[in-house]
Amino acid sequence: MTRVLILNGPNLGRLGVREPDVYGHASYTDLVRKGGEWGEGHGFSVDVRQTDDESEMVGWLHEAVDSGAHVVINPAAFTHYSYALRDAAAQVTKAGLHLVEVHISNPYAREEFRHRSVVGPVATGTVAGFGLGSYRVALEAIADLVA
Ligand code: DQA
Repeated sequence: MTRVLILNGPNLGRLGVREPDVYGHASYTDLVRKGGEWGEGHGFSVDVRQTDDESEMVGWLHEAVDSGAHVVINPAAFTHYSYALRDAAAQVTKAGLHLVEVHISNPYAREEFRHRSVVGPVATGTVAGFGLGSYRVALEAIADLVA
């Protein structure tokens, strides 16, 4: 069975409470439920996780490589500056696995520091600006790629 890790970076555990005008009213629990449903709809085994800790996120990317899992990742603020995360993400795609970067908001329509992603250049692709729907589109993209 195709395995997909849906990984979420810092402050995404605060969805629903955190800046609802930007990130919407859905909670992290909603994301876990919907991510599971959308992934299972494609026949994937899905594991949805969140961490505020860069080293834990890097470890999960290593786990994806070692276990052969594809990745949907919202790196949150790590997107914009974490070279450690970028290097770990590169290992996923160099291993022939897919890694789709997602964002709930559209970072390009926001502050200038959000316009740069250090993860995007090593990702299979990026989906941004569709609320939790960004994850649905990312899972659909992986389904198409592995079909
Ligand atoms: C985010 C966008 C990032 O700029 C921000 O730091 C986040 C969330 C998004 O999903 O829109 O925490 O990744």
